Amino acid sequence: MSAAGAPGPVRVVRLAPAKLNLTLAVVGRREDGYHALHSVMVPLALGDVVALSPARVGARGDTLRIAGLPVSPTPDNLVLKAIAATRDAVRATWRGAPNDPPPLAARLTKRIPVAAGLGGGSSDAAATVAAALEAWGASLPAAAVRDLAASLGSDVPFFLAGGAALVTGRGEVVEPLPDLEGEPPAVLLVTPRLPISTPAVFAAYAGRARPATPAALAASERLVADLRAGLSVSALLARAEELSAANDLLAAALEVAPALAGFRAALGRLLGRPVGQSGSGSSTWALYASLADARRAARLVRVGICNGTMPAIGDGEPFVAATTILASGRHIALAGAHNGGRAISKGR
Ligand code: C5P
Repeated sequence: MSAAGAPGPVRVVRLAPAKLNLTLAVVGRREDGYHALHSVMVPLALGDVVALSPARVGARGDTLRIAGLPVSPTPDNLVLKAIAATRDAVRATWRGAPNDPPPLAARLTKRIPVAAGLGGGSSDAAATVAAALEAWGASLPAAAVRDLAASLGSDVPFFLAGGAALVTGRGEVVEPLPDLEGEPPAVLLVTPRLPISTPAVFAAYAGRARPATPAALAASERLVADLRAGLSVSALLARAEELSAANDLLAAALEVAPALAGFRAALGRLLGRPVGQSGSGSSTWALYASLADARRAARLVRVGICNGTMPAIGDGEPFVAATTILASGRHIALAGAHNGGRAISKGR
C-alpha cells in the first residue's frame, strides 16, 4: 500500500502488434488538416513488447529502457508520452488522490521497424495506455480511452480496439470486422532501411492531383463488404493484385523515396506475386497461405539481397520477416501478461 492508501502498481507485460493496411484509400481533406481515410487494417503476430513495472523507490518520474531495433531518442518515445497522458486522464478519479498515480519503469522491446508504415509507435502507445491503467488498477470510461488514444496518434485507436477493423475519419473511427475464415494467412514483410516520414508522405499526397477513378476506395469497400459476409483466406489471396494496388499513398511515398520504385519492382519479380505497401511505407508486403510459404519467400529475399538481385537501398540490409495476420481470439490471448514472447517468436 502507498502512503495515500492506494495499492502500489503491479507489473504488466503487453504485446504491441504491428499492423498491415490491406487497403488505404484517402477520401478527402478534413478541416483539421488531416486526411479522411477508408482503410482495412489487420494486426500482425509480429509485435513489440511493452513491460511496465513500479519505478524504483525514490524515482522522481517515469523511465524507459529500450532494447531491440533502433528507435528515436527516449524522451520523444510514445511510451513515455502515453504514460503521462494516461496519468493526466485518470488523475481526477484516481483513488490515491491527492497523490498522482505513481511513476512507472517502462521497458520496450522493439521488433517492429520504425517509420515503416507498420504502426509500431502507435501500437506501443496503445499497449502502454492499457498497461498503465492495469498497473495502477485505474479505469476510464470507454469514450475517454478513445479520446486519449486519438490524442496520441491517428493509428492508436485501432490498436486499442484490437482485431481487424475498418478505420475511417482520421483514424479515430474504428469498426471491428470479422476475421477471415480459416487459418489466418501469412505475410512476408520486407522493409528497406529507409525510414519514411508519414507527414512528408501526406504532404506529397496533398500536392498531387487526385486519381480520376477512386480504385483504392472501391477495393476497400468491396473488401469490407466481403469480410462482413464471410471471406475465406483463399478468396483474399485471389485478390492480392487488387489489394496491392489499393493504397492511395503509394505514389506519394515513391515521390518522397524514389528508390522504393526499383526495390518494389525487384521484389515483385523475385517473389512472382503482387507486392503491397503498408500505410505510408516503406514496408512492402506479400500474402501467403501458410507461414511455411512465407518463410520460404523470406529466405529467397535474403538470398536476393546477398547476390544483388534486390537493389541495395537505404541504410543497410532490409528488415525481412515472415509473420501472420493475428485473429481476434488469438489477439486477446496473446496480449495477456505472459504470452507476448510467444507471439513474437511465432511472428519472426
Ligand atoms: O496522427 P499522427 O501523428 O500519426 O499523424 C502524423 C501526420 O500524418 C499528421 O500530422 C498529418 O500530417 C498526417 N496525417 C494525415 N491524415 C491522417 C493521419 C495522419 O494527414 N488521417
